[in-house]
Amino acid sequence: METASSSGLEGVNAANTAISHVDGEHGRLVIAGADAEQLAQIATYEQAARRVLDAGRAAPVDLTVAQLAQARMHAWELLPRLGDALDGDDGMDALRASLAHLRSTGDDLADAVTAIGAAPVFAAAWSRKVRGLAPVGPSADLDHATDYLRMTTGATPSPAAAKALGAYLVTVIDHGMNASTFTARVVASTASDLISAVVAAVGALKGPLHGGAPGPVLDMLDAIGTPANAEAWLLGELAAGRRIMGMGHRIYRVRDPRAAVLEIAVKPLSTPSLELAHAVEAAAAKILREKKPDRPLAANVEFYTAVLLDAVGLPRAQFSPTFGVGRVAGWCAHVLEQRRVGKLIRPASTYIGPMPA
Ligand code: COA
Repeated sequence: METASSSGLEGVNAANTAISHVDGEHGRLVIAGADAEQLAQIATYEQAARRVLDAGRAAPVDLTVAQLAQARMHAWELLPRLGDALDGDDGMDALRASLAHLRSTGDDLADAVTAIGAAPVFAAAWSRKVRGLAPVGPSADLDHATDYLRMTTGATPSPAAAKALGAYLVTVIDHGMNASTFTARVVASTASDLISAVVAAVGALKGPLHGGAPGPVLDMLDAIGTPANAEAWLLGELAAGRRIMGMGHRIYRVRDPRAAVLEIAVKPLSTPSLELAHAVEAAAAKILREKKPDRPLAANVEFYTAVLLDAVGLPRAQFSPTFGVGRVAGWCAHVLEQRRVGKLIRPASTYIGPMPA
């Protein structure tokens, strides 16, 4: 009979990882030895990516601004060969289909740099295409976050906007054994290649219960319009049997610490929607406390993601792909870590159907 240990289930429920730690009771996120709040303020995306890729490795990874810029250039050269991957209205479909065009070299580290460099190029090219605009190529002189914003908008962003987007990308780089990371690890555990693991992870991230919420959060803020409307609008949503987007989390029983990081990061941009967001969050927290007294439901990362990404000038359809642009380094780090574990992840299932007579 298959037991928990022979099935690999122990690796599912309690995977050891040096990449990140989520403390749901106290609302703390540690990314490879640093508090997420601090990391988001001091690290560029390149530095954070190197940090997660390095986690638990004997030899440090070499990942420079120039190497990542080169990877963006490589992806840019692939654009004409992506077929219809960037057609269509869904940015996550476009990200999945375009990343699937990357060829694995069999060298995980090289593939990781390729995937991390390609994600912003493909997401930005899709975003421009869907708006009827020609793609804008990468710049070797810019850091990853600044270049992603420039490739999206077509103009060099203000340092404040680039810094805010960089803080966002660092904040979401990894988050324990979330659904997309678990997906990447399952694929990697079969000894499949890193690109396949990343493509599968994009599929998991697409869902609104995982990475698909920030666009709907902005729709909600638009629909509410002014703080005075918040309570009535939110009550109407709950009465209609719908969930409040950007609220609640599977692990956190307090406010998601990333919400505070993003709130701080967006402040210098003086966006009017921040005030509205604060009012809506307070109203939602109050109503959910009353309606679900047994279940703490506070703001999650997506709440202020919506405000921040809107403030830096990204179209809302690009919010979920942008989550992928940030998370891809975490996925890659987990693939590298899973390789070191070297064990197939194979949860056991309990058969509840009829047995043959
Ligand atoms: N609004 C209203 N009610 C919510 C809620 C929300 N945002 N999140 C959870 N609940 C309620 C559920 O209806 C359920 O109530 P019930 O027991 O009366 O049926 C209870 O809280 C538990 O929900 P459950 O779906 O079991 O919790 P979970 O841990 O699986 O859910 C999320 C986590 C994130 C999927 C959930 O909070 C959610 O759907 N949030 C909105 C989407 C979102 O913001 N996603 C981004 C996540 S980072």
